[in-house]
Amino acid sequence: MKVNKQDYRTVWMEGSDVFLIEQNLLPFEFKIYKSESYIETCNAIIKMLVRGAGAIGATAGYAMAQAAIEAQNENYENFVREARYIIEHTRPTARNLFYATERVYQAALKSVEDAINEAENVANKDAEDSRKIGEFGNELISPKMNILTHCNAGWLAFVDHGTALSPIYKAHESGKDVFVYVDETRPRAQGARLTGWELNNQNIPHKIIPDNAGAYLMSLGKIDMVIVGADRIAANGDVANKIGTLEKAIAAKEYNIPFYVAAPVSTIDFECKNGDEIDIEYRSQDEIKFQCGPDKNGEMHRIQVTSPGSECLNPSFDVTQAKFITGIITEKGIFKPNEIIIKIE
Ligand code: MRU
Repeated sequence: MKVNKQDYRTVWMEGSDVFLIEQNLLPFEFKIYKSESYIETCNAIIKMLVRGAGAIGATAGYAMAQAAIEAQNENYENFVREARYIIEHTRPTARNLFYATERVYQAALKSVEDAINEAENVANKDAEDSRKIGEFGNELISPKMNILTHCNAGWLAFVDHGTALSPIYKAHESGKDVFVYVDETRPRAQGARLTGWELNNQNIPHKIIPDNAGAYLMSLGKIDMVIVGADRIAANGDVANKIGTLEKAIAAKEYNIPFYVAAPVSTIDFECKNGDEIDIEYRSQDEIKFQCGPDKNGEMHRIQVTSPGSECLNPSFDVTQAKFITGIITEKGIFKPNEIIIKIE
């Protein structure tokens, strides 16, 4: 995707360094972060400089490749095994992280070159899968449509095209009149900050709405379809995605609005029977208590927005049961949630 007319990937590797777009600073500053070791790359995932299931996966794959390079002066197999453990304990919910570490770890057991090539394959496959998701998803979009999305599942979240936003990019590119309602997605505001920034870059008409406005807009007939991404999909079609997704799905069912999940097969965890088995990440209370942004001179400030002394609870994801989902848009086609186990595995 282009930023200021220049092509960028969400994350990439040159030599033994990993480069990524510092998402924490967006939309106010566009900066590339350079990580020189696998531990630095792990910290970038923990601090959410990079986030979104696919981007975390591609970054974790590169971290594994960095570990293989670093392991050359150590007890090779022990070093890469320990590195895999550390990388896999950065964030728990996104399936793609574990998909990537498994693939690159197995390659690393053969050679360092294999590890580097495999990490590249994981990122390239993300890009290709996202592109195909855009093509399949575009078939669902009519010439004029209002679409609601939650969080950020664009090219910042999945290398190059994104998942939920990929069909929207494709539809806009093919001349359709798409309008996007973007949930702000508290507490970290990935919708307001990142999806808004992405859509602005692509000149796609949109409005950012409060997280609690979706059902009302649905009741007014202003939303024709919902498309969200996914962090992990269980074998029965239950979907873990950013907190707040479940509420939108329930409201969409009530108002007969199609609710689609866009994700590649690498996000499906066939070993996970249903959503109850998905490990949901709980994050720091500070994400709710404080917001941060620039003043009119561009200087960044952190301000408290909750009652001092009140405790907060911060589940980062929720599970939308398969019964609320119209279809799952993958790189292999569009499936009903209960079909993925039969038709994909
Ligand atoms: O906590 P994050 O920002 O890493 O959350 C993951 C997500 O970006 C979303 O849940 C997204 O909608 C699906 S990932 C493409």
